[in-house]
Amino acid sequence: MMIVQLLWWWLLLPLCVRAQTSSGAAAETTVVMHGCPEKCGNISVPYPFGINGADPRCSMNDNFTLNCDNSESKSSPKLMLGDFQILNISVEESTVTVLTTMVYYCYNVSLDGFNFLTTRMNLTGTPYTFSATQNRFTAIGCDTEAYMRDSDGTRFGSGCISLCYHEVNLTQEGSCSGFGCCHTQIPKGVKTLNISISAVNNYIYARNFSPCSYAFLAREGWFEFSTIDLSDLTNVDREAPAILNWVVGEQTCESTDLSCGPNTNCVNSDDGPGYRCVCKLGFRGNPYLSGSNGCQDIDECLDEKMYPCKGTCKNTQGNYTCHCPLGMSGDGKVACQGFRVTTLVAECRSQVKGDSSLEPATFWMI
Ligand SMILES: *[C@@H]1O[C@H](CO)[C@@H](O)[C@H](O)[C@H]1NC(C)=O
Ligand SMILES: *[C@@H]1O[C@H](CO)[C@@H](O)[C@H](O)[C@H]1NC(C)=O
Ligand SMILES: *[C@@H]1O[C@H](CO)[C@@H](O)[C@H](O)[C@H]1NC(C)=O
Ligand SMILES: *[C@@H]1O[C@H](CO)[C@@H](O)[C@H](O)[C@H]1NC(C)=O
Ligand SMILES: *[C@@H]1O[C@H](CO)[C@@H](O)[C@H](O)[C@H]1NC(C)=O
Ligand SMILES: *[C@@H]1O[C@H](CO)[C@@H](O)[C@H](O)[C@H]1NC(C)=O
Ligand SMILES: *[C@@H]1O[C@H](CO)[C@@H](O)[C@H](O)[C@H]1NC(C)=O
Ligand SMILES: *[C@@H]1O[C@H](CO)[C@@H](O)[C@H](O)[C@H]1NC(C)=O
Repeated sequence: MMIVQLLWWWLLLPLCVRAQTSSGAAAETTVVMHGCPEKCGNISVPYPFGINGADPRCSMNDNFTLNCDNSESKSSPKLMLGDFQILNISVEESTVTVLTTMVYYCYNVSLDGFNFLTTRMNLTGTPYTFSATQNRFTAIGCDTEAYMRDSDGTRFGSGCISLCYHEVNLTQEGSCSGFGCCHTQIPKGVKTLNISISAVNNYIYARNFSPCSYAFLAREGWFEFSTIDLSDLTNVDREAPAILNWVVGEQTCESTDLSCGPNTNCVNSDDGPGYRCVCKLGFRGNPYLSGSNGCQDIDECLDEKMYPCKGTCKNTQGNYTCHCPLGMSGDGKVACQGFRVTTLVAECRSQVKGDSSLEPATFWMI
């Protein structure tokens, strides 16, 4: 018996080691076209996005060509989409996170008047829209009437009002309830936004404890009360991260000339015209590329945490099978019942995954 065991070890060891290295490599999926820059500073630039100045093939078209601005040599480079600075790109969710200007309206004692800033954003003629589901229009202040409109004022206008007649501790309030803060959603498919603020009561009541109002479009949940003290707000330039959705073309999924790679599904946008691509279930990679950077079959058997298997795991295209050991029954993905009949089986899964459990390869003997 002992001899047999040792022999198995000998045969399996190289197998386990090989599996381990290949699973390690698979985790680092390249997301760009071969030979294209992957990052600007520390921000990944996945296809269909590419950086201006690189091979034009690196981006799908001009709508996805970004500038990597190195001009301020002291700070890290800025990734720019037109005038927007990009913080993050997600191909899976078809979003980019950009910085937007916070507008203000402040009472100025020495002036006995107001300092203010308004902003406008224009995405007309681009495949980007302000995400209606992931952003909130938020205003903070105590004499605050915050507006947003589309640029030509013909489609929509909305906003919120916040009034308070004595000092508010936003930390104690704990939510954006209308007392020192208000928020609202934006409509679907918005391409242009003008944001401005005015005062309802000319700061007659609030000028001593809250002389400024702010308004901004930002990713839901970004704004944390605990960090903001109303009396501390002054008319400095600030920015907020907002989410833009993007599509790769104006066609719908029913069209024949789509830019989706192999093993993908097409999804129609619910923001307006256009579609995006996602990997089919059981595949992983960049849905706009083909070949080894495109959507590739996931080898579920290498990741038991995500894809449980109590028996013998076998990878298939887009899925995996898991059979209970001989003599046991049940769905191996959930549990196996009964007594294991005994063949000589060696498992090196715990080693393959490289997880830190020190479990050695296990053997069952008849
Ligand atoms: C890039 O670095 C900045 C600070 O250096 C950090 O705040 C930011 O989260 C980083 N972004 C990514 C995508 O790692
Ligand atoms: C980028 O966006 C994706 C998807 O929304 C998110 O999972 C990821 O944490 C973001 N990364 C950074 C550095 O914000
Ligand atoms: C008040 O306005 C003056 C003139 O515009 C400006 O110089 C000053 O910085 C403002 N004060 C504050 C607190 O904003
Ligand atoms: C927005 O951009 C489009 C295309 O660049 C332009 O035609 C339009 O006039 C702009 N709108 C405003 C309000 O600036
Ligand atoms: C850029 O996006 C706009 C809006 O989706 C589209 O009309 C235009 O054709 C795109 N440009 C290119 C070069 O594909
Ligand atoms: C939006 O802002 C632009 C530029 O400041 C201005 O020309 C336009 O009239 C504004 N639109 C509305 C509805 O206020
Ligand atoms: C606001 O309330 C919090 C929690 O009760 C407290 O810790 C904080 O000191 C208060 N801030 C001010 C400016 O009173
Ligand atoms: C994998 O196969 C199981 C049935 O064995 C099925 O329920 C599941 O939906 C399949 N998963 C995928 C990603 O196709």
